[in-house]
Amino acid sequence: MAFIAKATLFLLSVAVTVKNSLSFNQTSGIPGNSVSPHVDIHRDRFMNFTELSGHYGFATEEHTVTTEDGYVLTVFRMTGRDCVEFNKSPVLLMHGLFQSADAWLDAGPDAGLAYLIAAQCHELWVGNQRGNYYGRRHVRLDPDRDAKFWKFSTDEMGIYDIPAIVDYVLKNTRQEKLIYVGFSQAVGTSLIMCSERPGYCDKVSLIIALAPATRITNIKSVMLKTIFETVNKLQGVLLSTGVHELFARGALVQGLLGQLCKFRSTSRTICGTGLGLLDAFHPGSIDDDALQLIATHTPAGTSTQTLVRYGQSLKTDKFQKFDYGKAKNLEIYGTERPPVYNLDAATAPVALFYGLNDNVDDIEDVFWLKNQLPNLVEAIQIADPLWNHFDMIYSRHVKKLVYPKVKQYLFNYS
Ligand SMILES: *[C@@H]1O[C@H](CO)[C@@H](O)[C@H](O)[C@H]1NC(C)=O
Ligand SMILES: *[C@@H]1O[C@H](CO)[C@@H](O)[C@H](O)[C@H]1NC(C)=O
Repeated sequence: MAFIAKATLFLLSVAVTVKNSLSFNQTSGIPGNSVSPHVDIHRDRFMNFTELSGHYGFATEEHTVTTEDGYVLTVFRMTGRDCVEFNKSPVLLMHGLFQSADAWLDAGPDAGLAYLIAAQCHELWVGNQRGNYYGRRHVRLDPDRDAKFWKFSTDEMGIYDIPAIVDYVLKNTRQEKLIYVGFSQAVGTSLIMCSERPGYCDKVSLIIALAPATRITNIKSVMLKTIFETVNKLQGVLLSTGVHELFARGALVQGLLGQLCKFRSTSRTICGTGLGLLDAFHPGSIDDDALQLIATHTPAGTSTQTLVRYGQSLKTDKFQKFDYGKAKNLEIYGTERPPVYNLDAATAPVALFYGLNDNVDDIEDVFWLKNQLPNLVEAIQIADPLWNHFDMIYSRHVKKLVYPKVKQYLFNYS
């Protein structure tokens, strides 16, 4: 355990010190390193969401949504090419921390939830949070020059990003409600929306909550805890030296991962083990092609402040707002301590999916959330006892172990 913590610290310090001086060229690879009959992983690694989904027979449109505070987010509308009519309710997918919309494609056409849902002729929309490589734009601020661009955490994602995307999808589809499917952090941000934006929870007919992250008091992952604690402790140094963005695509950590996981022969040992350390081990659950895709799409970048907030979350058993310190809290919130989110306002029905081997969102935290939700329709424990956090989105068994229930809910609420 101590070794993992030290190694993580080392990686993190390197990531911070050389953040801008070293970047990997994601488009240079070694051709011909591909043997799979139906997936050409070399080709797939260099495709963006539109190209990749298009390659597997889906029509994808790119939309941009501008939030009230000026962030410009790419949102994809992905539909099956053979679909002539769509189910009434649109479906919105939102990814977790360190991810982008691409995460929903990484498991490949036979397991990626975006593929599975769009193939059933649901009108599928796939969003991005501010700060990742599809959300690194603003109407006024330049992410490379203006520190102000990076002044956000999960709070702002829930208060601005999710509502803006929800409104955009509803307007575009002329519907009154949509079904929201969130993974991890994106469950938390949808609940933040319900708490902080009156009326918005009514625009969601169902929240499908996959491995939900709200409070993370009981998180077991040593690697993630170290990252969150370190960023939290060093925030003063980081921000004063201009490190406002962390784990961007192409920056050291991600670039190294991309290079190391490029080869089928090493992807399982190196990248599979890495993901296992970040979460919990579940040998063989995520296939080698998926590991290589994950390594080119993740981490997708976020703000230092977001990780500071996770650092704060380690020290509280509440699901609460960003802690600016007593004086600034008083000024912003009118109280010395950050207010807790009002989960009573999360009136939308919630179907909660969890695994027993999740080292990120521990079962105690999942059960805590379960007891707070006023309109829980079902808590579904995935049958495989080794089911971990990232399995929920990347496992080759998603189609068998997660999707049937998701499918049933999508039809019942459409
Ligand atoms: C990245 O590599 C590709 C292929 O080798 C090359 O065409 C491209 O110009 C490189 N891009 C940068 C930014 O170096
Ligand atoms: C994806 O790639 C296509 C083709 O190169 C390009 O036209 C499109 O703008 C890209 N989309 C995004 C969101 O980067």
